[in-house]
Amino acid sequence: MSSFPDLRLRRTRQAAWSRRLVRESSLSTDDLIWAIFVSDQDKPRDPVAAMPGCDRVNIDELVKDARRAAALGIPAIALFPHIDPASKTADAREALNPNGLIPSAVRAVKAAVPQIGVVVDVALDPYTDHGHDGLMEGDVILNDPTLDMLAQSAVVLAEAGADIVAPSDMMDGRIGAVRTALETAGHQDVMVMSYAAKYASAFYGPYRDAIGTSAALKGDKRTYQMDSANTNEALREVELDLLEGADMVLVKPGMPYLDIIRRIKDEFAVPTFAYQVSGEYAMITAAAQNGWLDEKRVILESLTAFKRAGCDGIITYFAPRAAGWLADG
Ligand code: PBG
Repeated sequence: MSSFPDLRLRRTRQAAWSRRLVRESSLSTDDLIWAIFVSDQDKPRDPVAAMPGCDRVNIDELVKDARRAAALGIPAIALFPHIDPASKTADAREALNPNGLIPSAVRAVKAAVPQIGVVVDVALDPYTDHGHDGLMEGDVILNDPTLDMLAQSAVVLAEAGADIVAPSDMMDGRIGAVRTALETAGHQDVMVMSYAAKYASAFYGPYRDAIGTSAALKGDKRTYQMDSANTNEALREVELDLLEGADMVLVKPGMPYLDIIRRIKDEFAVPTFAYQVSGEYAMITAAAQNGWLDEKRVILESLTAFKRAGCDGIITYFAPRAAGWLADG
């Protein structure tokens, strides 16, 4: 006990009502974006090996999931494609196919569940035969030729009805290229969520299996994704993306990078999101399945931590589960 007997911080912790009263941040279903893998394979649902409880879904199942999301009050879903290896090429041309998997998925969701927000990733890696986010010459990523592809693919996705395009490729100058292309094509109302601080991370492992890029990926992504040791550089990435027209920014992965979220929010005070990535999902789920962690409490605590760090929202594979628990109170 301190020498001043009236300094007792435990007073406000005594009862549920007083803890609620002094709570500094809160998690609500309004904060959640549900990340969903969409597949062009025949199977309606296909489990992802390292992500128990998370399936790749075909478009019919996706529409059901979108209905479920809307019923739970989840504001938006984010779509990530599993593309048949036969459609992958060095020039990633499938990314520009207006009748490709993701444009078709967006149209189907928007027709059936118009009230839900649809976020789409803009990146070439699902479509390249080498698994990188940019076009390549030998071992070198071609930054500027990639921008044109990204811009065109953003327009294809906007045309299909996407509400938010989210460039996740980490090429320099891509937000400006995407914004300009959207304006030129008359899509001034489509929002850009920039993966501004995206780190070269081992936490993406299960995702790359889920969308089928890990088998193809040659080398790693360290020449374009950020070094996990850096934080000042994240602020520069965010500043440039805002100047180029980003409406919101995202930090990825999530939990190992809460310090980056806090710095960005303090510095720029713009809508800031975290992506609780596949490896974070895998860690929590594996421990919970072994009975080593309390699944519900750990998931809600991890999501609340993002809010405390300064996030406005979180892209997460746990969204439907979390929304269900939040509705139960
Ligand atoms: C690729 C992309 C990645 C993720 C989302 N978009 C992985 C990568 O950069 O290889 C990872 C998401 C996750 O791990 O859940 N543009």
